[in-house]
Amino acid sequence: QDELKQAVALAAVETIKPYLGTGAALGIGTGSTADLFIDALAPYAREIGGTVASSERSAIRLKKHGIEVLDLNSVRDIPVYVDGADEIDHGMHMIKGGGGAQTREKIVAAVADRFVCIADESKLVNTLGKFPLPVEVIPLARSYVARQLMKLAAEHPMVEVNWRLKPDGSAFMTDNGCVILDVKGLSIADPVELEGRLNQIPGIVTHGIFARRPADVLLLGTSTGVRTIT
Ligand code: A5P
Repeated sequence: QDELKQAVALAAVETIKPYLGTGAALGIGTGSTADLFIDALAPYAREIGGTVASSERSAIRLKKHGIEVLDLNSVRDIPVYVDGADEIDHGMHMIKGGGGAQTREKIVAAVADRFVCIADESKLVNTLGKFPLPVEVIPLARSYVARQLMKLAAEHPMVEVNWRLKPDGSAFMTDNGCVILDVKGLSIADPVELEGRLNQIPGIVTHGIFARRPADVLLLGTSTGVRTIT
């Protein structure tokens, strides 16, 4: 899988080459695949007009390579955003947030003209939901939101809501000072509908269904090479 991730990371560099030397800001995702993409950008550091990172983790990695990281408030246009996914379906809807960065990812993706998803073939699914859905929550709303999410049991009998903890037992905190509830046992027949419904629950900052803003291009790493799916 690492080789497949490496191959898609290199393929993604080709998609950003037209913007090198133009001063355009690039949107940069988060995760192990995005890390490989960031490393593959290193040789082009001087030609990159700047980047907007979707996490502190990616910002640190970009800066290590000498790549400039900009505040999103100072950027109006992002022609392309490159990021991984935890699951992607054939309609280009995704589950994201395994690394806990879904809020900034959704914001940067919203600004970007094009979303290029980079993933190995294990991420392509017929129906989203096997990967637990990350839901970022304002800490004081945690129990309330968990009870609301448990109501999904009406349609998803196996649903389970787990508060994400670190290995030492303390709460996993996002870059935005929030906590995460991971929702297991979903089978998401209509991702656009569920994204909208979860958006209505007070206390939820963002969740990991990316369906209203799906990917535009999927670079899929397979054993026979990188497939480009649009
Ligand atoms: C980060 O919060 C996530 O949305 C990642 O983009 C996603 O988890 C994919 O990560 P990997 O490339 O590590 O599988």
